[in-house]
Amino acid sequence: MGKIRAAITGIEAYIPEYVLTNDEISTMVDTNDEWIMSRVGIKERHILKEDGLGTSYMGAIAVNKLLESTHTNPDEVQMLICHTVTPDMQFPATANIISDKCGILNAWGFDTNAGCSGFLFTFETVRRFIESGEYKKIVLVCGERMSGIVNYQDRTTCPLFGDGAVAMLIEPTEEEGIGFMDSILHVDGVGRKYLYQTAGGSLYPATEETVKNRLHYIHQDGQPVFKYAVSGMADVSEEMMKKHNLTSDDIAYLVPHQANLRIIAATARRMGLSEDKVLINIEKYGNTAGTSIPLVLWDFKNKFKKGDTLVFSAFGAGFTWGSILYKWAY
Ligand code: UT7
Repeated sequence: MGKIRAAITGIEAYIPEYVLTNDEISTMVDTNDEWIMSRVGIKERHILKEDGLGTSYMGAIAVNKLLESTHTNPDEVQMLICHTVTPDMQFPATANIISDKCGILNAWGFDTNAGCSGFLFTFETVRRFIESGEYKKIVLVCGERMSGIVNYQDRTTCPLFGDGAVAMLIEPTEEEGIGFMDSILHVDGVGRKYLYQTAGGSLYPATEETVKNRLHYIHQDGQPVFKYAVSGMADVSEEMMKKHNLTSDDIAYLVPHQANLRIIAATARRMGLSEDKVLINIEKYGNTAGTSIPLVLWDFKNKFKKGDTLVFSAFGAGFTWGSILYKWAY
């Protein structure tokens, strides 16, 4: 019997209909398509516009599609974990709300929050349950309604973020050469002063003042985050290659977090990868935080062949960053 590894055996997404273009953003703040495209690489992003809908709305649709396409009975799911920095509410966990909406009644679960590295950190958590041998079907959901915490009066952040949700079925495999191979993950609190949402937690609960001062929105000092992200993502991706004696020829695709084309390009350069090995969809969806790597996997899933070596790399608030070495399983 081979080692038990965690494998993604199904992946589905929900993308909200409304497309917020750079041109529309230019009517809200002093910016333009040329600046956003050349500095970041985003053309448009999808936004969940309707009042009264949150991350669980998108997550539940993605999970229902997943249950259908993988012919999974909700009762078979043993655990559902949701990564989000934009939960429906502070509590209960969005994972519980999604489970309820999807009729997943035999599972337990919880939310995780690791900023834009959230998929990596959560997949690492899920793989430990799978490798224990006790879990056969875990649903991992990544979902964000970033538009709910974006200040559409702040030109330094409002063009960046988009909404969406992705659901993945994770199952054990003992087949050689596929599944979750390795991870390298990091946190460093040096980042907490550059990227945060001030109010709404226990430190600054909502008051008239916090609302008036627009403290319930994302704050980002772009330049320091950019600097750390370039070195963090490139370093950890190169470290993963060295650890496993991989050359650029061994890697089918880099699947990077989609925050900025220039950060992605710097990482790919350090790994010695040609453009055709770097998967990018930032122009269509913007930065969907921890959902961005799953959204790339979903978008490009028809490209992958069983056994393809993929490197997932991300950098986000905290700071959090890391890399996963994964071999596509179907
Ligand atoms: O996903 C989680 C982690 N986050 C990231 O990885 C994001 C990392 N940071 C970045 O991607 C980039 O720093 C940004 C895209 C956020 C900003 O790009 P930048 O090249 O670092 O711009 P900057 O902040 O240095 O600003 C350059 C100029 C400034 O004007 P002055 O001071 O030179 O006159 C800004 O005021 O661009 C101005 N600017 C804008 N101009 C037009 C900032 N935002 C805009 C805008 N439109 N939307």
